[in-house]
Amino acid sequence: MSNNELNKMIDFTGQTIAVTGGAGVLGSGIAKALLDTGANVAVLDLDKAQADAQFFNKGLEESRILTASGNVLEPESMSKALAEIIAKFGKVDALINGAGGNHPKSTTAPDKPFFDIPLEAFKFVMDLNLLGTVIPSQIFARHFADNGAGNILNISSMNAFRPLTRIPAYSAGKAAVSNFTQWLAVHLAQEYSPNIRVNAIAPGFFLTNQNRFLLTDEKTGELTARGKAIIDHTPMARFGNPEDLLGPTLWLLSPAANFVTGTIIPIDGGFSAFSGV
Ligand SMILES: NC(=O)c1ccc[n+]([C@@H]2O[C@H](COP(=O)([O-])OP(=O)(O)OC[C@H]3O[C@@H](n4cnc5c(N)ncnc54)[C@H](O)[C@@H]3O)[C@@H](O)[C@H]2O)c1
Repeated sequence: MSNNELNKMIDFTGQTIAVTGGAGVLGSGIAKALLDTGANVAVLDLDKAQADAQFFNKGLEESRILTASGNVLEPESMSKALAEIIAKFGKVDALINGAGGNHPKSTTAPDKPFFDIPLEAFKFVMDLNLLGTVIPSQIFARHFADNGAGNILNISSMNAFRPLTRIPAYSAGKAAVSNFTQWLAVHLAQEYSPNIRVNAIAPGFFLTNQNRFLLTDEKTGELTARGKAIIDHTPMARFGNPEDLLGPTLWLLSPAANFVTGTIIPIDGGFSAFSGV
């Protein structure tokens, strides 16, 4: 393979990539990087106003951006979003399942024992992470099957490999996302096309709105005991920056990863490799 061919691998010009949860911290960073590499980007988010604020009047090439209000838990909403994308860009080449997260009520604490976690909070987190990945995958993968090609990238987490203390629902939800990633990769390659790939990234600890209250003290900004434990168990001794996700994400979506499917790639500064000793 020539240098030129290698260099062209991370050029997404002419491709259309949909990002659920694309108005969020990690999703919007990924979506902007994809715009920079030439892709058309469709940002699907419950919060369309936030998506518009992130992507319009920011000096980005607006003709390559579509923002749509979309709920990953409602199949009709995802079908409608897919139709909007096809109407604007003609087809979709990849789906990033970025919507997901935890809920404070499904987190244990000294004054919030596991025994009292409201089941509706547990279910909310399981649904958002697992069904919020399954439903858009059902809708978009049918389009990929019709085209004989496509790419799905899920967002799992460190807690999928080994559960983290305090967040049982989020850990179980992300473990399910990793498991589903492997299942869907096998199913789509065997039943539809070896040119449909499904992978996941498993970000380690990134300071975002979702976990800020667990990792830093609201008043002083100092690390909490949990934040300190994470840094102590991260060989690279820092939290991740959203930019740390970009290289592995672009690689998994690109032809450079053409023979890669069913993987869950940790992006964690070595956290998952470190035994603590
Ligand atoms: N931040 C971290 O440290 C971290 C670590 C590992 C994994 N993750 C995962 O990465 C993904 C993005 O996380 P983030 O930190 O950017 O979160 P975020 O809260 O900043 O963004 C999530 C986005 O999803 C949207 N959303 C929520 N429910 C939705 C629904 N039903 N339908 C459509 N959109 C919906 C929200 O409006 C928001 O814009 C999530 O799956 C999260 O679990 C985050």
